[in-house]
Amino acid sequence: MSEANSTEPEFQTVGLSSEIADERGRGYEVKGIRVAVIRHEGKLHALDEMCTHADASLAFGPIREGCVMCPWHYAEFNLETGEAMSGPACEGVKTYPVREIDGEIQVAV
Ligand code: FES
Repeated sequence: MSEANSTEPEFQTVGLSSEIADERGRGYEVKGIRVAVIRHEGKLHALDEMCTHADASLAFGPIREGCVMCPWHYAEFNLETGEAMSGPACEGVKTYPVREIDGEIQVAV
């Protein structure tokens, strides 16, 4: 009998799949961390919610070409990597594993 792999991310249910339509996002708090969960082309992405420039929420930013745009000053962040693709933000955001199981959204931080 083997023990559970301790390096496996610990997923936590944050909400329902039905809460996020395609090309939309929503903010959740997971273990004290604000996380934006964004659905793009049917796939969920999870990244730090707050923009590294001046703390605007990325959960409601416009989404295009694989990036979410900050609603305040329009910095763009790659949804897969969190990399800052355009200024004024210089620093990227962290990304997190996210999955959907039985109609629930689960994130690991
Ligand atoms: S707060 Fe996001 S670009 Fe300024």
